[in-house]
Amino acid sequence: MAEEKNFYIGTAVSSDPFLKDTDYKDILSKEFNSITIDNELKFARVHPQKETYNFQIPDLIIDYSKKNGMQVRGHSLVWHKQIPDWLTMQKYTRDELKEILKQHIYTVVDRYEETINVWDVVNEAYDENGILRHNIWRDTIGHEYIELAFIWAHQANPNAVLFYNDYDIEQINNKSNAIYEMYKRLLNKGIPVGGIGFQFHTSINVNLDYNSIEKNFKRFSDLGVKIHVTEMDVKIQNNKDALQNKLAKQSEVYSNILNLCLENENCNSFTTWGFTDKYSWIPAYTGNDDSPLLFTNEYVRKPSYNALYKDLE
Ligand code: XIL
Repeated sequence: MAEEKNFYIGTAVSSDPFLKDTDYKDILSKEFNSITIDNELKFARVHPQKETYNFQIPDLIIDYSKKNGMQVRGHSLVWHKQIPDWLTMQKYTRDELKEILKQHIYTVVDRYEETINVWDVVNEAYDENGILRHNIWRDTIGHEYIELAFIWAHQANPNAVLFYNDYDIEQINNKSNAIYEMYKRLLNKGIPVGGIGFQFHTSINVNLDYNSIEKNFKRFSDLGVKIHVTEMDVKIQNNKDALQNKLAKQSEVYSNILNLCLENENCNSFTTWGFTDKYSWIPAYTGNDDSPLLFTNEYVRKPSYNALYKDLE
């Protein structure tokens, strides 16, 4: 259904169930036409030692995606989390770290030149006040690590659409304002940023301001960049309402965001961070039970699934 509109409905894929759970794999190709590998392309996993890359699992998942005609969103090249010890335990000079990052980007992007045409190049670089976070990249290379990363990714694969991806930037606020200014700056300088990823890790307890999201989508889209919803999940924990009501509320949130994306001509990809509650990262991350996704632990379709399906029809 999504293909006919040139629209991508995606999910994050975890390697464990991908390798072990056949129900998971069946639903994956039946229901989605885009995937994001949840962890295996992050720096620490794919490049665990200075001289060692680990492409085995990404290769398997990407092969499978291509066989099934799915888009692959590469995630992610530069982040302050999930970086290997060999990077953090030793002090590198600015030139050394630049060379390390450049070779990392060249190696990973180049390997998948034929198969990954969308990359989250920089992930979560800003803090909630709209200040560039202190991290190994900024503190050693300087602010310019962001544009260098985009330039290197573009050199490695000139056909890929390159994204900056972040959370809590869905609405107009200090953080999204800072990132909007960054896009204007980068585009003015001819840096190849082609899209912006809005993660959308949210909760039914959050009162999203849909008007603000629409305006925010529009201002980025007016810059000519693609808009992707990249990691959506909707928590229902810490809420005393009956389960049925919580799931109904959850389905509304999913549906509202999908519709805002469908209404924006530059928004062509909507990804949830997993599809079955069984393997969601939310319980481990928050320390609470939850049910943030589209299918139950037993792979029964939830109201959230049905709402999205209806919107796509
Ligand atoms: C999460 C993974 O899903 C977890 O398995 C891992 O332990 C932590 O990272 N923003 C991102 C994603 O960009 O890469 C994160 O993924 C979730 C938040």
